[in-house]
Amino acid sequence: MNELELACGSFRTLLEEQLQRIEHMGQPAVDYTAKERVTIGIAQGDGIGTIIVPQAVRVLEALLRDEIQAGTVALLEIPGLTIENRLALGQSVPEESLRAIKSCDVLLKGPTTTPMGGKMESANVTLRRELDLYANVRPVTIPEEGVDWMFYRENTEGEYVLGSRGVTLPGMAVDFKVTTDLGTRRIAKAAFDYARNNGKNRVSIVTKANIMKKTDGKFAQICREVAQDYPEITVDDYYVDIMAANLVNPAIRSQFQVLVMPNLYGDILTDEAAQLQGGVGTAGSANIGSRYAMFEAIHGSAPRMIEEGLGDYANPQSILKALAMLLRHICRTAAAEKLEGALAACTVPVTGDTSGVTCREYTDALLTLL
Ligand code: IPM
Ligand code: MG
Repeated sequence: MNELELACGSFRTLLEEQLQRIEHMGQPAVDYTAKERVTIGIAQGDGIGTIIVPQAVRVLEALLRDEIQAGTVALLEIPGLTIENRLALGQSVPEESLRAIKSCDVLLKGPTTTPMGGKMESANVTLRRELDLYANVRPVTIPEEGVDWMFYRENTEGEYVLGSRGVTLPGMAVDFKVTTDLGTRRIAKAAFDYARNNGKNRVSIVTKANIMKKTDGKFAQICREVAQDYPEITVDDYYVDIMAANLVNPAIRSQFQVLVMPNLYGDILTDEAAQLQGGVGTAGSANIGSRYAMFEAIHGSAPRMIEEGLGDYANPQSILKALAMLLRHICRTAAAEKLEGALAACTVPVTGDTSGVTCREYTDALLTLL
């Protein structure tokens, strides 16, 4: 068989797999108020993950001490998610780790390194797919400017789900992007529900539907259809390039409230937004599905900080904000509010280098404010 036929064959397989994926969407969501015991998986990950996650666990143990003692909340250390182990096994998420994660309800996860090039998929992408974590929810606030954004990034489709499945032919490479009706409907519904339940009256749809006519065209159109069930909410459409500009335009940026978008645009815009808030070390991220949910720092494993010997100065705020989102998700609202209050009140400077305090010193200060 020649290379062209092989490529066409693998494209066919992709299409068949994606059609099958659609059939498994649409499970009912877990009701945490009705659960006798909630198991929280803890995965440190790589690089600064091994520094920030243990500090987040100290905070978690302080906040839920009574529940952990009573057994209504259990913490489970997830083995095997280091880059060394993943490379040795050639698996982005080793089977043993995935099994342990699936025995939990929710996961607090540190950043995991993804080698550039090569075949290995990002552990995040694998977990988002395996656990069907379709909504990537990322809040960004700049209180002094009245900015209060909530990003709803589609998390299981777009360029990501097939990002390691492209084809190469002599002299060229092709990747694939997929958008499904059900996948779009559920992220749109999550964004509009959030708006409705949190007193927001505007949702902005962000795509590049003028260029990616099939996939982004579908995304925008389905978001519009879902919007019809929320007549009290104003809906508008933006292309991602102008939205990137709008987010840095102080004259208008505080007008945006909830933003819903396909995967890759959400990846880029949420780093931009986090930087405006004070840096990628300051933003939390929730990955929500019907059955499972994963909470993580928005940033990566920062190998450069480790190489420069600055790992101890890593900023734990992002993972701590993710922890607050985790607590809210499992309906431990009082604990979440306590943590959010302490994060807002803790002013010791953590700068990511020796000009500030260490990750542990920051956490020590925060613990006194709980
Ligand atoms: C994020 C990260 C991930 C992504 C990486 C680690 C795969 O940048 O969560 O935004 O691109 O989604
Ligand atoms: Mg990103």
